[in-house]
Amino acid sequence: MSTADTRALPKERIAAEHVQQMFDRIAPRYDAANRVMSAGVDVLWRRKAIGRLLDGLGESPRLLDLGAGTLDGAVEIARRAPGARVIAADFAREMLRAGRAKLRDLQGDHASSGVNLAARVQPQIADGHSLPYTDGAFDGAFSAFCVRNLADLPRASRELRRVVRPGGRIAILEFFRPERSRFFFDKLYNARVLPLLGWAVTGDREAYRYLPASIAAFRTREEYAALLRDAGFSHVDARPLFPSGVASLVVAS
Ligand SMILES: C[S@@+](CC[C@H](N)C(=O)[O-])C[C@H]1O[C@@H](n2cnc3c(N)ncnc32)[C@H](O)[C@@H]1O
Repeated sequence: MSTADTRALPKERIAAEHVQQMFDRIAPRYDAANRVMSAGVDVLWRRKAIGRLLDGLGESPRLLDLGAGTLDGAVEIARRAPGARVIAADFAREMLRAGRAKLRDLQGDHASSGVNLAARVQPQIADGHSLPYTDGAFDGAFSAFCVRNLADLPRASRELRRVVRPGGRIAILEFFRPERSRFFFDKLYNARVLPLLGWAVTGDREAYRYLPASIAAFRTREEYAALLRDAGFSHVDARPLFPSGVASLVVAS
């Protein structure tokens, strides 16, 4: 897009396009970078969040994974809840493309066990600011490391509230801005080590400078919890995850 085109767009739209293009660029190496940067802990965080999401939602819940990326969360949901149907929504086409390839590989691995992941995980291009789903379409929604990237978070939070039925649940994993910045995680690891690791694995320097910058510019966990209450969620439980509150899990209904 030319500079002239960009100037004609509202600020939120420019930010959204920037994020979308960045994820499209890093899509082929995104999973590898995640595993290296979190030493595999991101897998455990998703499992924990999905356990909280599914608890009590029944045998065959309809679920949304917002900002599903390369489908790690959606696939984990489908494995854990064999009756669940998951819409894996993301606005970055290349992230979903990488996810579809993963789904095909996993389907091959699971073929003999009859676990039909491909039929139950449906990747769809969609923007979290205006979701193409009817009111109350889902029993619950999951979102991992997406909400920090949303250009208009209040609007996207109201959209989540709208598409999840009353009494349904959302489970959100995210790196929130810490109340007080900690030397090891914030000043050393996030600010210095992460960008280097991300750059080394993906070759994209800017995307992994954006990561700590977006955390520093984001809301705290409690600010986000308050925003969800404003969006219409009445029960909001926001907690840090191990190790030492680097990431947090927010469950709301
Ligand atoms: C850090 S990745 C997380 C991917 C995946 N959830 C995971 O746990 O690995 C953030 C994802 O959110 C998506 N995203 C950001 N803003 C979005 C928006 N407005 N609508 C839909 N997806 C969005 C990005 O394209 C990207 O795939």
